Amino acid sequence: MKNKVTKAIFPVAGLGTRFLPATKSVPKEIMTLVDRPLVQYAIDEARAAGITEFIFVTSRGKGALEDYFDRAPQLEAELEAKGKDQLLEVLKSTTMESGAIAYIRQHKALGLGHAVWCARRLIGDEPFAVILPDDVIAAETPCLQQMIEAYEEVGGNMVAAMEVPKERASSYGILDVREDMGSMVSVKDMVEKPKAGEAPSNLAVIGRYILTPKILENLEHKRSGAGGEIQLTDAIAEEIDGEGVYGFRFRGQRFDCGSKAGFLQATVSFGLARDDLKDDLSRYLHEVISSEKAAQ
Ligand code: UTP
Repeated sequence: MKNKVTKAIFPVAGLGTRFLPATKSVPKEIMTLVDRPLVQYAIDEARAAGITEFIFVTSRGKGALEDYFDRAPQLEAELEAKGKDQLLEVLKSTTMESGAIAYIRQHKALGLGHAVWCARRLIGDEPFAVILPDDVIAAETPCLQQMIEAYEEVGGNMVAAMEVPKERASSYGILDVREDMGSMVSVKDMVEKPKAGEAPSNLAVIGRYILTPKILENLEHKRSGAGGEIQLTDAIAEEIDGEGVYGFRFRGQRFDCGSKAGFLQATVSFGLARDDLKDDLSRYLHEVISSEKAAQ
């Protein structure tokens, strides 16, 4: 088996019900943080980590996503004619090289595990990354790059992990820790969405993974786990006493852009990080806070 991670799966076939009615016609992954769709952040992170093959698991109604990565000849010609070189560069940087990107259909939203399994033939016998574009991570060193560096030392399977408040644990896959090595933990169990009070720790799995092809074999059993969906967590947990599973505490801030509150927080945070927006935005935020305080 090859050891270098060069392929990434982007599962984007979910229904995005938390963003209805917007997601009736706009794929969640195309929704914009400031001026770039969520999926662009995911692609940039993957590229920075050395990924060269990008596999999207899509579904009906996600055509806008495929168009986004395509060339836009008419728009390019118009920008060129108007001498808008900077915008032209921005536009061209979103076009993916022919053949670098592949789309696989998941015909029914049977869960994240099933979505990953749909890409099995394009993965073959090599380790691969999985990136969920609705988890956006602001970090000095991109999260996946941090993980690949750690993976090259320990191998096995690796999941990105972060501490969450106890009362939020039932929304995540939670790690039961065998040994805490600081930035990494070895895992002795994984529980998907534990019931209140039953979480083995407050270390939650979020949307970045480095997995071995054995996980695809495990998914082949297509067992239904929590919530009737085919859970990726279950297939990874099968390798705890096999190839091993590590949790990686990444350095960075994660935004849950699959939820409305998380999306709004990310919008503010990314807006404040932009030189062209931060002054206006922070002035506005101060005004809002002062008028809220005055009203109390
Ligand atoms: P979510 O749990 O956020 O589900 O999926 P969702 O459908 O996108 O959104 P809600 O909960 O209805 O609002 C996590 C990731 O797994 C993908 C989603 O596209 C998202 O990137 N996914 C989920 C699939 O690709 N297929 C599935 O069957 C389920």
